[in-house]
This record gives sequence, structure tokens and C-alpha cells, in this order.
Amino acid sequence: MKTRYLNAEDPGAVNEAAEILRNGGLVAVPTETVYGLAANALDGKAVSRIFEAKGRPQDNPLIVHVSSLDEIPPLVSEVDPRVYDLAEAFWPGPLTVIMKKSELIPDEVCAGLDTVAIRMPSHPVARAVIKASGVPLAAPSANASGKPSPTRASHVRDDLDGKIECILDAGECSIGVESTVITLVTDPPTLLRPGGVTPEELESVLGKINISHAVYESLGEGEKAQSPGMKYKHYAPAARVTLIKGSFDKYEKYLKAHKTGICAVCFEGEGKHFPVSVEYGRADDSLTQARSIFDALRKVDETGCDEAFVRCPCADGVGLAVYNRLLRSSAFRVTDLDFSIPVYGITGQTGAGKSTVCSLFEKAGFHTVDTDLIAREAVRNPEVIENLKKAFGSDIFSDGELNRRELARRAFESEEKTNLLNSITHPVITELAIKEIHEAARNGAKAALIDAPVLLESPLAGVCDKIICVTADRDTRLQRIMQRDGIGIEDAELRIKAQRGEEYYTSHSDIEIRNVKPGEAVLQVENILKEKLL
Ligand code: TXA
Ligand code: MG
Repeated sequence: MKTRYLNAEDPGAVNEAAEILRNGGLVAVPTETVYGLAANALDGKAVSRIFEAKGRPQDNPLIVHVSSLDEIPPLVSEVDPRVYDLAEAFWPGPLTVIMKKSELIPDEVCAGLDTVAIRMPSHPVARAVIKASGVPLAAPSANASGKPSPTRASHVRDDLDGKIECILDAGECSIGVESTVITLVTDPPTLLRPGGVTPEELESVLGKINISHAVYESLGEGEKAQSPGMKYKHYAPAARVTLIKGSFDKYEKYLKAHKTGICAVCFEGEGKHFPVSVEYGRADDSLTQARSIFDALRKVDETGCDEAFVRCPCADGVGLAVYNRLLRSSAFRVTDLDFSIPVYGITGQTGAGKSTVCSLFEKAGFHTVDTDLIAREAVRNPEVIENLKKAFGSDIFSDGELNRRELARRAFESEEKTNLLNSITHPVITELAIKEIHEAARNGAKAALIDAPVLLESPLAGVCDKIICVTADRDTRLQRIMQRDGIGIEDAELRIKAQRGEEYYTSHSDIEIRNVKPGEAVLQVENILKEKLL
């Protein structure tokens, strides 16, 4: 199918779009929130084409758009009088209200539910198209299902060109995130999706409302979604997205500890600090963030990066909608860099005695984050399992158990494959380590000590306030490795050779602990703690 592009300002464009809609066609229509993919809401066949074009799951219902209040009574089984109060305050505008549906609404619109979602948009073009077509319009956001919602006609074209009859272009959407969805069917009413109308504004009209927990967290396994749209992965670029909480300084340090291939998604003026970045709105202004967040998420993929780290927005007011969309696009992956205890890293060559030093600090109330242990846990993470199977063959797992030896054989075949293994496991190891630091803080630890064999190359170096390096001369290290691992001198020498020289470790550390003679490390740790050198 050839998609027609109409400039909404051209005379006749609105009537042409309305004609297509009356004939059962699909038109992408600008609204103040995002572009919608409209069909005649009373024509089940036309509506089912929306699902096909978007690749939308059949059980996710659509919003019915009207242009005046008198269009509502025929659509619902009984008019909830509170809808008039809401209309008075917020319509036309970015609010969707759910009520019990009437027989007039085809099942396709409501995906089999007995309720219908209704919204009266304020965008003059959307209103004109509804009026000219003479029917209510069912319209989800005009993106391919799962992708970020479209806030420009070009976004719609990228996703739906050739699949729909027409795109009506009216420039950029002014709000930029979809409408607030509230259901009046529950008592008290429940906010299902935050948007341009804030919870506080709704409460000023309705009194107390509930906020669905799905706004903040992923649904439990097997839990039924109050709003089916909440259970799907959404707003997601192809890159793996993580939300980062904490100050800009912490964000910058953490991102700089990563290798290439990452995109910083940050606020205006911050992008220049990173090799690859996309900016979304001003740090202190939720409205500008809302307007640009979906465009920014689309731009992430144009950078070719496979990981994006997004500065966490403030979740107040309209910011709640921005935060919610980002939670969804990151599959609820949030990394909090605001630690309530100091975080130190410990590194050094093999056999230098990092574990010994860690246990000395533990006696003073420090918690050791052992990344070797975490690496074992990481390969039980579903995302890691799936990616390992894709990269190294599903037969590296049998009965759900990873065959470590076989994985090692395949991964260490070439540098490229080793890097692939690391790119799959390291992000998850990093996240688990950061979670463990927060947990240690909650459990009363005085500080966290990250014990990582390759700390200096790891993003975890970017969360350390200071780095401690443990050193010992070559002979001492050789003896220790042979004894610890029960290997001969040749193997022990190979291991030492595979590592960098001592200078590399000391020059990247803030404090050195020499650990050769018995009791030597104890004294230094005592001194460090006494002199508050950390
Ligand atoms: O701003 C908007 O609301 C945009 C523009 C085009 O109006 N539309 C939009 O539609 O965002 P869509 O389909 O992308 O999102 C509709 C949301 C989905 O999460 C859906 O599950 C929910 O509303 N929804 C629709 N009808 C519902 C119902 N009867 N009960 C519960 N949730 C419903
Ligand atoms: Mg949508």
C-alpha cells in the first residue's frame, strides 16, 4: 500500500483524512500528546487493521477519541457523572477516562473487556478530523508496537510507511508523552498510566485516587494487568536501556568507566561531556523532558550504540510520566549511584593477597562485594542465559545448568568471542554488585569494598570513591599461587605473565598496601583506618 502524506494545513487535507476514515481506512493523526493511528471506532473491521499495522497484541484495548461531550453517552452503559467534572477541568486535553462500555463499542476496540477508554484531545487537527469524519476514532499511538511513541510525522513514517492509508503531518506534538489514563470503574478511581494531567490535579477533582503499582514496578509473574498495555515491553529502542539515579558527577564518572558502544541520554548542556550522547530536555523542567523523550529514545538507535544510560528524571508532576516511560523502556532496570556508605575498590596482581586484606577490613565493619561470586550468580539471570545461548549455542546449558567448562572453551577461542562473553555478563555483574552495595548499607555495613580481579577495566571502578591496590614481590606471589591453587611453578608463572605489571596497578590506585611479611598488612590497614585515609 502506498501511504499518502498530507500537510494538515493544506486545504482539504482534513476532509480527505476524514473520507479515508469513513471508508474503513487508517490515518495517523497528530494530537497534543503523540500521533495516534486512527480508525472508525464503530467499525470492528477497520479497528482490527490497527492491530495488524502496529503488530499490537490483540488483548491491548484502544482509546476512543471524541470531539464533544454529547458523543459520550452512546459509548458507555451508564455515564459516570464524575466524567463531567473531569471534562470541565481537563478536556479537551491529555486525559483518558475509563468507564463501562455500551453495546455500540465493537469487541475489537476493548479487546474483550467490558470497559471503554475515552479521551477528548485538544489538538485542533485531531478535533477537526473527528468532527469531519462524524464518528468517534479509536486510536492507539501510531508507532510499531514496542517502539517509542511517535511525536513527529517522520516517526510514524519510519514505523508504518506502506501499512496505512495516510499520515497527516502537523509538526511536533506539544506534550510528547501519552495521556494520563484513569479508570472510574474502581473505587477509588485508579490511575493506570501517568501523563500530561498529574495525580495531584486529578485528586483536586476526584478526591483520593489510587496509583496502580504497575506505574512504578513490573507486574508480578502471572499477575493480571488492570491495563493490558502495562504488561508489554514498551517504548524501547533496540539498545539496552538503563536508568541512572544520582548526581551528574556520579553519572559522568560511571559512564566514563565504560568502554565504547554506550550512549549517554542526558539533559541539555550535558551531552558535550561524552563521546556519544542524546539530550532530552532541561534537568529541572519535566515539560521539556516529556516533549523530547521519545524522540531521544529513537535517536539512540541512530547512534549505533548497544547500551544507553539515561539520566533519571525527577518523578514529580508530569515528570512521573517521563519516569514511567523510561522505566518501561529500560524494562525497569535502574542503577542507583547514590550510595549511603563509602565505596572502595580493591585490586592487585594475583597472589598479592587481596582476600587477606579484604578480611582485615571486614573486621572493621566493611562489606566485601566479591565479583567472582557475583559472576556465578549472573549466569543464572534469564537475560544472560538467553544471550549466552544466542551467542554460544543453546547446548551450553543442559537441564538448565550451565556447562562452564564448555562455555569457557568456546568463549576463549578468540578475543572477539571473549569480548562477546564479557559484553553479555559484565553489565549484569555490575548491576548485581551495585545492588549488593545498597543492601550492605541497609544491613549496617560501614563501607563497601569491591573485590574484582579486573576492577580497573570494569565500570565498577566508576563507582569507587577510592581504589586500594595490594602488592607483593614476584616470588611471594608465585609461592602463594602455587600453594593456593595446587599448581606447579610453570603454570603459576603463566598466570603472572598474563597480568599487567605492578606499576599499572599502583599508578591507578589511591592507596597501596604492601603485603609480603606476616603482620605487615594488618598494621597498614589499622593505620589507614586510624588516620582516616579512606
Ligand atoms: O495520548 C494518548 O493517549 C495517545 C493519543 C493517540 O491519544 N493514545 C495512546 O494509546 O497512547 P495507546 O493505545 O498507545 O495506549 C492506550 C493505553 C494502553 O495502555 C491500554 O492498555 C489502555 O490505555 N487502555 C485502553 N482501554 C482500556 C481499558 N478499557 N481498560 C484498561 N486500560 C485500557
Ligand atoms: Mg502506545
